[in-house]
Amino acid sequence: MTSSQSRTVVVLAAGEGKRMKSALPKVLHPLLGRTLVGHVLAAAAGLEAQRTLVVVGHGAEEVKAHLADVAPAAEPVLQAVQHGTGHAVRIALEAAGDAGGTVVVLNGDVPLLRQETVRELVEAHEAAGLAATVLAAEVADPTGLGRIVRDESGRLERIVEERDATAEQRAVREINAGIYAFDGALLREALSKLSTDNEQGEEYLTDVFGLLATDGQAVGVHVASEVTETLGCNDRAELAALRALLRDRVNRAWMRAGVTILDPATTWVDVTVTLERDVVVDQNTQLRGATSVAAGAVVGPDTTLIDTTVGAGASVVRVHSVGAEVGPEVGVGPYAYLRPGTRLARKSKVGTFVEVKNSEIGEGTKVPHLSYVGDATIGEQTNIGAASVFANYDGTRKNRTVIGSHVKGGVDTMYVAPVEVGDGAYTGAGTVVREDVPPGALAVSGGPQRTFEGWTERKRPGTPAAEAARKARSETTHGGGDAGQDGLTSGDTATE
Ligand code: UD1
Ligand code: CA
Repeated sequence: MTSSQSRTVVVLAAGEGKRMKSALPKVLHPLLGRTLVGHVLAAAAGLEAQRTLVVVGHGAEEVKAHLADVAPAAEPVLQAVQHGTGHAVRIALEAAGDAGGTVVVLNGDVPLLRQETVRELVEAHEAAGLAATVLAAEVADPTGLGRIVRDESGRLERIVEERDATAEQRAVREINAGIYAFDGALLREALSKLSTDNEQGEEYLTDVFGLLATDGQAVGVHVASEVTETLGCNDRAELAALRALLRDRVNRAWMRAGVTILDPATTWVDVTVTLERDVVVDQNTQLRGATSVAAGAVVGPDTTLIDTTVGAGASVVRVHSVGAEVGPEVGVGPYAYLRPGTRLARKSKVGTFVEVKNSEIGEGTKVPHLSYVGDATIGEQTNIGAASVFANYDGTRKNRTVIGSHVKGGVDTMYVAPVEVGDGAYTGAGTVVREDVPPGALAVSGGPQRTFEGWTERKRPGTPAAEAARKARSETTHGGGDAGQDGLTSGDTATE
């Protein structure tokens, strides 16, 4: 803060947002990692205000709960009936008690606003000692917005809502963005004089400008350098347009910071995500929440990471992941599902059609194909055979499986938890591990294979299978099977 002036922020978030046609209050709609009101609060955070008041009304309980979560220092003020933006600010200042200094008012539905812009507006306002300053922008289509009305010398005369505007005023393309700085004392005085003599019968905050100007007070206009920052959000089509604009802004910033984004149009990165240099993000990828990706990792294509950390040099291809930690140089996918509590140590691998939940997989350990790993701890350099399942749920409780290091799990092994497999142990193909396996042991289960020679021709005569069998048997001299073999060659026990 450059001035010694005290600052109070008022965010207006009581409106219903009728055109959203939503059970969710408008300001709680999400936009790349924050709600609309969350973005506005983030833009105001750079002001280091003494107090931040948020006027709530529609969906007040939901909005209050959200504020407690994302901005616990913000103070909600209830506007039970929405009599307009001027009424909302009046109620907020009454609740605040002594708000002198600068009062900064922000509409709760202008999410692309940047901290720098708000700060510039407020600093210019304070430096010039103005009574009020409004953020304005020249737009191609001003429909529905308040117009900035200037006199012949270019000074702000008043702000007029579209519904109350003359044809001449409607032709003005300079609009009010809904972001303002006021001298607190003068604002209070003007608010007490607001009328409801307008098309909507509301107290308009915007009328404060006309009142102050008529009173001979100095009011100013701060023109936004980037029009997109001033865009409001009234329906879901506008919300989608804002989302695309924010996506482009976020992607541009990451690319300038050294991240390769192969297809920015299909890459959606929440504002809360962090990426290091030389990360490569392939197309159709969403990075959300508290996700971070370390240097040189490759993420995507077709990947969604939510609250997931990815270590340096890892490769995460066609993956859906929630709440997982992927270590350095780990390979995940293609086609894998990581669920909360998954921790993959360095150089481990989770391959194709593998789901992992609440499990630690040790350094260099591989779960390459078609498996479910739930509630397990697996040591280092272990191999879990294809199509293995960790039966973690006994119908009542979730139980853990603990597997040591250098274990070779056979294909189609079923680990029935709670169970432990010691270091260096093997399991045979198709084993159901119900009892602990000591270090270095081989576990097998199921009886010996039984083979009924000539079964198909006897039991399914006339079928294509029987015909194929007959031909094969007549073409070979091969007689019966080599009975007595235990069926457990080393090749059965593991897959790479
Ligand atoms: C307002 C401005 C308009 C400006 C536009 C920019 C007024 C009278 N008009 O119009 O000049 O161009 O924003 O987007 O201010 N709210 C309350 N309590 C109320 C009414 C509104 O908290 O009683 C909140 C809403 O939740 C919203 C904000 O104030 O966040 C703006 O209200 P909205 O109804 O969207 O105003 P606009 O008609 O868009
Ligand atoms: Ca609006």
